[in-house]
Amino acid sequence: MSGLPASGARSGDTTGMGVLRINGTTALVTGGSSGIGAAAARQLAGAGARVFLAGRDAAKLTDLADRIGGTAVIGDLTEPAGAAELADRVLTEAGRVDVLVNNAGQGWAGSFTGMDEPEIARMVALNLTAPLLLTRAVLPDMLARGRGHLGFVGSIAGRLGVRDEAVYSATKAGLSVFADSLRHETAGRGIVITELVPAVVDTPFFVRRGRPYDRRSPRPVSAERASAALLTAMFAGRPEAYLPRWLYLPVAIRATLPRTYRHLSRHWG
Ligand SMILES: NC(=O)c1ccc[n+]([C@@H]2O[C@H](COP(=O)([O-])OP(=O)(O)OC[C@H]3O[C@@H](n4cnc5c(N)ncnc54)[C@H](OP(=O)(O)O)[C@@H]3O)[C@@H](O)[C@H]2O)c1
Repeated sequence: MSGLPASGARSGDTTGMGVLRINGTTALVTGGSSGIGAAAARQLAGAGARVFLAGRDAAKLTDLADRIGGTAVIGDLTEPAGAAELADRVLTEAGRVDVLVNNAGQGWAGSFTGMDEPEIARMVALNLTAPLLLTRAVLPDMLARGRGHLGFVGSIAGRLGVRDEAVYSATKAGLSVFADSLRHETAGRGIVITELVPAVVDTPFFVRRGRPYDRRSPRPVSAERASAALLTAMFAGRPEAYLPRWLYLPVAIRATLPRTYRHLSRHWG
């Protein structure tokens, strides 16, 4: 495993990744059955957290939970009560959540009009509504204790509005401004809010969305690297982490030179 050290490193935080701050915490990771979420669950457990992994795939979740000494929580976050039931289950069993990694999400590749209404509703429910509701469920107690880490797995699509990913981009943009706004609201109260802004991560995401990744750049990074980038930023108290780091450049160009950006993006998409 790259990134966060495994349990052997618990005795000293020599990595700058906040292992001592992770040790002994209770963490909830959505989408813990696969990809970035599974890597986050492994890394958090390796650093000494008690990890709850959420998702729908019972076999994958329980297998990983058994291997890392965590707890699998099976449920569908697109169901109306999905987020509330997940939060209830973890809060009842553990009494608190110190670290929430809002990671579960699904993509879509194709025209906006190619999506039917239920598909749009499901994507918004999973990628945007569920993280808001889970955050709402755990934040009051974090504020009362003056301590908490909230991680959001966003996407470059939420910063730039990628072609053929209109609804997906909108959900990730919503997540991003939600995190920004909440950071203001909770400033000075011990809450760290961090967004990971990845480009391309080597996970089943592309197979699941029905279109493989076929560009030459940016090159896919591993799920372990993506998760480590998020956790490192979270436990260093940083608001965001771009992966790869140069990804902030097109975002900066869009913000400062919008006409130039629009001209260039006609070619990039
Ligand atoms: N891969 C990339 O290139 C990339 C780039 C930018 C952002 N991201 C974001 O990274 C996050 C993680 O994706 P990934 O790349 O790790 O993909 P992944 O391997 O497909 O993982 C997606 C996770 O979401 C969970 N999930 C999907 N639908 C769900 C539902 N209805 N209810 C509960 N859980 C559900 C899945 O669990 P079950 O199947 O067990 O339900 C799975 O654990 C997503 O938010 C994605 O948008 C990915």
